[in-house]
Amino acid sequence: MQTPEMEYRPLGRCGMQVSVLSLGGWITFGGTVADAQMVRRLLHKAFDAGVNFFDMADAYAEGNAERVMGQVLRDFPRHRLVLSSKVFFPMSDDVNDRGLSRKHVMESAEKSLGRMGTDYLDIYFCHRFDENTPIEETARAMDDLIHQGKILYWGTSEWTGTQLVEMHDLCRENNLYRPQVEQPQYNLLARAKFEQDVRPVLDAQGMGAVIWSPLAAGMLTGKYDEGFPPDSRFGRIKWIREWMYSEQRRDRVRAFKAHADAFGCTRARLAIAWAARQPGVSSVITGVTRPEQLEDNLRALTVELDDDVRRKLDDLFPAKAENENE
Ligand SMILES: NC(=O)c1ccc[n+]([C@@H]2O[C@H](COP(=O)([O-])OP(=O)(O)OC[C@H]3O[C@@H](n4cnc5c(N)ncnc54)[C@H](OP(=O)(O)O)[C@@H]3O)[C@@H](O)[C@H]2O)c1
Repeated sequence: MQTPEMEYRPLGRCGMQVSVLSLGGWITFGGTVADAQMVRRLLHKAFDAGVNFFDMADAYAEGNAERVMGQVLRDFPRHRLVLSSKVFFPMSDDVNDRGLSRKHVMESAEKSLGRMGTDYLDIYFCHRFDENTPIEETARAMDDLIHQGKILYWGTSEWTGTQLVEMHDLCRENNLYRPQVEQPQYNLLARAKFEQDVRPVLDAQGMGAVIWSPLAAGMLTGKYDEGFPPDSRFGRIKWIREWMYSEQRRDRVRAFKAHADAFGCTRARLAIAWAARQPGVSSVITGVTRPEQLEDNLRALTVELDDDVRRKLDDLFPAKAENENE
């Protein structure tokens, strides 16, 4: 395959640049993609295509995604990589092994670095908002990690606009490093929260967005038009199927095929191209289980959308909260 040229974008008002297509390890690496040789093949293929941003979390496959991805990512010069991980979700039954307390943030960062085999993370995300920890405690922990050189930037994931504004105000008042990037779900089937609540705040605060599940976990590819193939994500994992699939969504994805056909491309490619061209998006974090998927998704870089198709996609996938499986 002729690899299309990669594009790089800053995270909002920030010097560091990330590839517009990036690769994450949720469900896949160390999970459904258990074969270490396949993980190596996929990460090398992505890196060779210009992907520099690789997204992980402590919770992915209970630490295994960081281990297996970290093992392969050591093949590449560290300065050419933007590596992220996340903290929040419980890692054991222990009362402190969860959330965004100073204790858990500091301990969890150390464990992620150990599993990945690197001295620092480029981005460290608060995987969700923690109602049980004062935001100043979390902000100071992140600021300290930056001063210690263990992380370079910090970010949030699935925070609301109001939570982001509160955090920015607090950091500004206390001269602390502010969150530089938010990681929301954003795809044709889940638009309203990002477009209406989060993006205006990111713009105002100079933050970037690196968006997750651009294919709604595979739903938008059309692979579930006629049931659930046993070797697919929805075929394998019931709770994701129940979360992301509905007959109404399936019908809209079936109708989406005509638009992709008119462009001479797959639905996956058109969905990713749409996400990558939406305002405020720094990077689209994709997920793959096999090389053909990665090739298909990388070719989204060659798809140019015109106003006509944008309008058609807006009609088919309106940004309304009731359409979203949040
Ligand atoms: N911050 C958060 O809370 C959060 C939450 C979720 C994800 N994320 C991040 O976002 C990344 C991407 O999420 P995601 O994996 O859900 O992304 P996605 O792109 O929406 O779905 C990826 C899955 O769809 C299928 N697929 C991908 N490309 C395909 C193609 N061209 N044709 C057919 N099937 C294809 C594959 O699953 P099968 O082959 O198994 O069917 C693949 O694993 C994660 O790895 C993670 O880094 C973050």
